[in-house]
Amino acid sequence: MYKISNAPLITAQQIETRLDSLALEIQATGFDVILSVLTGSYIFTADLSRKIATPDLEIAFIKASSYGESTVSKGTVHISGLEKLDLKGKRILLIDDILDSGNTMKALIETLEKLELASLKTCVLLNKESRRVVDCHADFVGFEIEDKFVVGYGLDCANKYRTLRDIWTLEEV
Ligand code: IMP
Ligand code: MG
Repeated sequence: MYKISNAPLITAQQIETRLDSLALEIQATGFDVILSVLTGSYIFTADLSRKIATPDLEIAFIKASSYGESTVSKGTVHISGLEKLDLKGKRILLIDDILDSGNTMKALIETLEKLELASLKTCVLLNKESRRVVDCHADFVGFEIEDKFVVGYGLDCANKYRTLRDIWTLEEV
């Protein structure tokens, strides 16, 4: 059994403010395509992408799954949706919700690096540095957080809590 914390870890207002500066950094670097990892980053991608003043920026979604309905990563990452995309020669910004063990991001990078991209950079809303088990980092990070399981703003536990506007920690009871 899990319960939501009494107060948000990161409020919607804090997210909004951070996204303004993140968007400026990303805009200054310059990208052709945002490649967003479903499902956890759907809200982050929608909000961030609309703050990037690049009218012809392309948005594409892929799916990566490693968790099932547990809060413990299984380590094997299944990637789907890439076969329909033509990313060759493009500057790609890969967006995920959270960098935890790093398994997902590492698998995505290794797969994407085979596709003759012009460049690849990565962006995550949240980084749990202390949880890393593989060598992996993100080029753009919204917030550094401690080793706590979080939900809201797109992030889930068993596909629930995604629509909460703030980010909350989930505690086992
Ligand atoms: P990693 O492969 O262990 O880095 O995990 C990355 C994926 O696990 C993320 O894309 C999330 O879907 C999920 N995840 C990791 N930590 C959390 C969390 O605290 N809340 C919700 N999902 C999480
Ligand atoms: Mg995810």
